[in-house]
Amino acid sequence: ALYTEPYRPQIHFSPSTGFMNDPNGLVKSGDTWHMYFQYNPNATVAGFQHWGHATSKDLYHWQNHLYAIAPDSDDQGIFSGSAVLDVNNTSGFFNDSVPADSRFVAIYTLNTPTAQNQNIAYSTDGQNYTKYSGNPVISLNTTQFRDPKVFWDEQKSRWVMAVSHSQDYQIGFYASTNLREWNEVSRFGPSGILGYQYECPDLLQIPISGGDKDGQKAWVLVLSINPGAPLGGSFIQAFIGDWDGTNFKPWDGSTQIVDFGKDFYAAQTFYNAPNDQAILIGWVGNWQYANAVPTSPWRSSMTVPRQMTVRYIDMNPMHKGYQVTMEPYGLESLQKQQTNENTTSSNGNQTVSLDGNGAFEILANLSYPSTNYSVNPRAEFLIHTPNQGEYLKVGILYGDPTTVYVDRRLAGKEWSDSNPFFTDRFSQQFHPITTDNSTKQIVRVHMIVDRMQSELFVQDGVASASILHFWDNEAKPSSLSVGLGDDQIKLDSLQVNAINSTWP
Ligand code: FRU
Repeated sequence: ALYTEPYRPQIHFSPSTGFMNDPNGLVKSGDTWHMYFQYNPNATVAGFQHWGHATSKDLYHWQNHLYAIAPDSDDQGIFSGSAVLDVNNTSGFFNDSVPADSRFVAIYTLNTPTAQNQNIAYSTDGQNYTKYSGNPVISLNTTQFRDPKVFWDEQKSRWVMAVSHSQDYQIGFYASTNLREWNEVSRFGPSGILGYQYECPDLLQIPISGGDKDGQKAWVLVLSINPGAPLGGSFIQAFIGDWDGTNFKPWDGSTQIVDFGKDFYAAQTFYNAPNDQAILIGWVGNWQYANAVPTSPWRSSMTVPRQMTVRYIDMNPMHKGYQVTMEPYGLESLQKQQTNENTTSSNGNQTVSLDGNGAFEILANLSYPSTNYSVNPRAEFLIHTPNQGEYLKVGILYGDPTTVYVDRRLAGKEWSDSNPFFTDRFSQQFHPITTDNSTKQIVRVHMIVDRMQSELFVQDGVASASILHFWDNEAKPSSLSVGLGDDQIKLDSLQVNAINSTWP
């Protein structure tokens, strides 16, 4: 049966069959979260792009539906884009009888051999879409113009679209009062890391925590780059700044990497999330090897939903000031069983078996007593499978600054050795939290391990990483061992939870 394959993620979304890439049209309507996604129903490689569709009440238990938007011919693709609820019927597409939160409008790129144009389609159930007869709504006679993300901008009471002029390294901002007629109001860029193409922009507001802007919101431009990532291939950067309804200006001109793993791309946030929260889902993949990863009969999965916060970090060596952070959203609602004894203040190595057939969550608090660093003040978390010598390593190396590192060299040697782009080690630096009297430097680790994918969140998401690992012989994770490389490091607490599969 589907969803029982050994590599199949058990709490993350993946399509039943076929190839998936970017999340598209993320929107909450009533109590239902809709996720569309770039989807090739006919093969497990990218091509013949449709908008696949799934819905969920909790962002973890998903119901698959037939694709929602299909190309009219096989030389066309329905490329990435967004969806909104046209509650005031600005478009004129809806009868009065259609409830406000059932007025779906999707905005996407139609890719043809000769052009990329922005198109729209509308629906009263989120599943059956009618393409607008006046399409395209923006056409510039170029093949490098895509991925429209639309939001309702209260500042000027109008719709705003961020869309990528990919190979000009610019984001175009367009405004509209009816979703059908659009005018360019400004452009942003070139800025930040350029790589080869800008893709999938998302301009959104994110709540601020800490600093003198505590409780306010920041405007953040999330921007995907491919290829040209620091680790190769695809990655996402973000700019924090101001949006005045017309122009986006980053505060300090600098850019941030939001996830230091290699498998996090084309993320977008939900339209109409409760309480204006910024809830983001990313594609777990990298164009350097997405068409070749060893899964079947599907390829690719999504991250868990991540709640974004802009935190003031006064000691972050990588970026003093405000920083985009991400943590799992709604994970506490899933059914879990703790699989280890509660550990407090333990020293030395220990092993916890990962019993269960679903995914696992690891919550660990580490502390180190001083800033007088010894030779090897590190703690390592190894995720083993039954295969001899096979493990994924996540380490915390105390120092000034402290480093979190991931090493997947031995997490499935067959695959990592065979793919030259499957970069196997990456790290990010940060500062531990110091207690008031500065005697303890605390590091909090939160990790989700789900068959062939893991997500790591350190220090409330100041560092996060999305990681693929294809174990030899399609093995499953079977135990966690924690090694403390220094007798001054304390594992203040360790909790390992087995999370029930969210797939039937
Ligand atoms: C990003 C991307 C988008 C495009 C889509 C096509 O991964 O290249 O720019 O719309 O994928 O599937």
